[in-house]
Amino acid sequence: MAKISVILGSVREGRQGIKAAKFITKELEERGHKVFLIDPIEYEIPLLKNKFQYLKDEEKTENLKKLQEIFNSSDGFVIVSAEYNHSVPPALKNIVDYFMSEFSFKPSAIVTYSMGSFGGVRAMMQWRPILAELGMPSIPTTFPIPNVHEAFDEEGNPKDEKYHERIKRFLDEFDWYIKTFKAGRENGIPH
Ligand SMILES: Cc1cc2nc3c(=O)[nH]c(=O)nc-3n(C[C@H](O)[C@H](O)[C@H](O)COP(=O)(O)O)c2cc1C
Repeated sequence: MAKISVILGSVREGRQGIKAAKFITKELEERGHKVFLIDPIEYEIPLLKNKFQYLKDEEKTENLKKLQEIFNSSDGFVIVSAEYNHSVPPALKNIVDYFMSEFSFKPSAIVTYSMGSFGGVRAMMQWRPILAELGMPSIPTTFPIPNVHEAFDEEGNPKDEKYHERIKRFLDEFDWYIKTFKAGRENGIPH
């Protein structure tokens, strides 16, 4: 069992990403993981003024403090990203920019989606350097979801059963990285 944060980055009315995030959350829970679904609406994340560590005490909202605790305790991170103008959505970048050491020496996995047929692959390629810079390198396999508005019901159940097969390979790989990085951290990290 690992602790995993699934980070969603859409705040639009009628957002599709929440369905993809629920799907990933359920699949991870079925593997026995403790999952934190980080929804920027629920956590009312303010527009970034500075990294969390540099904020004044009165700027550190209870939700930001809670988020720091969750990220500190997480063993891995799943980024559930839309593609906005061939790039990453601002609400998601806004969350990750607050933190850094909380992510360090832990793996990430990239899920992207779009209403078109490419499934957000252009945003995906931009996440790789961002996640690497934050110290949570992304696993090689990615999980693009095309036509996201047709792919799930409201609870995040996929309409095509093949999604369960597709996600298996992706999450098997993520599990391996989580276990391997965890063992590595237990042996100490460079300072
Ligand atoms: C600001 C904005 C920019 C978008 N840019 C792209 C794009 O570059 N490529 C694409 O395939 N879809 C694009 N779309 C369409 C999204 O794929 C679609 O709206 C998707 O549902 C967005 O995710 P969300 O519903 O979780 O916000 C864009 C949507 C918005 C709101």
